[in-house]
Amino acid sequence: MNGDEFLEIVKKRRSIRAFDSKPVSDEDVQKVLEAGRWAMCGANTQPWEYIVVRDKAVIKQIADAKKLAYSEKYELEQTKLEELRVIQCRSFEKEPGFVDAPVLIVVCGDRRTFQATCLTAHFIIGEGGLSASYLKNMANTTQLMNLEAAALGIGSEWISVGKLWETEIRKILDIPEVIDVHTMVALGYPSYTPKPVWKRPLKDMVHYEKYDRSKYRTAEDIHKFLFELRRKSTTGYINLTDDGEK
Ligand SMILES: Cc1cc2nc3c(=O)[nH]c(=O)nc-3n(C[C@H](O)[C@H](O)[C@H](O)COP(=O)(O)O)c2cc1C
Repeated sequence: MNGDEFLEIVKKRRSIRAFDSKPVSDEDVQKVLEAGRWAMCGANTQPWEYIVVRDKAVIKQIADAKKLAYSEKYELEQTKLEELRVIQCRSFEKEPGFVDAPVLIVVCGDRRTFQATCLTAHFIIGEGGLSASYLKNMANTTQLMNLEAAALGIGSEWISVGKLWETEIRKILDIPEVIDVHTMVALGYPSYTPKPVWKRPLKDMVHYEKYDRSKYRTAEDIHKFLFELRRKSTTGYINLTDDGEK
């Protein structure tokens, strides 16, 4: 595969939020996991562990835990000005799309591996202190799994696991206290055709040799951007039209 072909896969990958019942083979799941295993990570610490869930009843239990957590998320969102509320948080009654996914990979991490990284990385330099490089490591593995799924022609969803429902997942899957539940990756075939996603033009993001102040975005620019994002976006947090809703 050459660079252009790789870029095609990168661009083709979309977050899928509703799945049909077509199964995903064990072989493909292994490839997705294998891609995750090869992710870049600080000091090569590889803090990752993956729980592959295919049992529909268990996936349903996890989806129910998310639904319950989202009722709290909904309440919190109501404290924001109405025009700033994220559409996805406007309702908590909808079943999470991943409930129909044939495979759910729960991406876990082990913070005991922190010790391999030099101390400065943890608490002297850099935002995020102790957790920063660890969280980047967790995100990297999740990203590669989503990318491999796209390369295999499988739909995937990056599902953030927040505090509100992590405890429940931990109970359902018997995850030891010391192991973090970071993200989930749902795998399956989309039950809808995702709309194209809007990305900021590259020229607005790239600076050559030094920061180009003419591209600096003022507070007003950022507000405009956020409203534009809401208007244009066809994905997840901003707009429900791309999550398979009819
Ligand atoms: C840190 C992070 C958290 C995310 N959390 C979720 C999530 O909880 N649920 C979801 O459906 N998508 C989630 N996404 C996916 C983004 O919403 C998605 O990548 C973005 O809207 C762009 O759409 P695309 O993936 O189709 O290009 C997450 C992505 C990242 C990187």
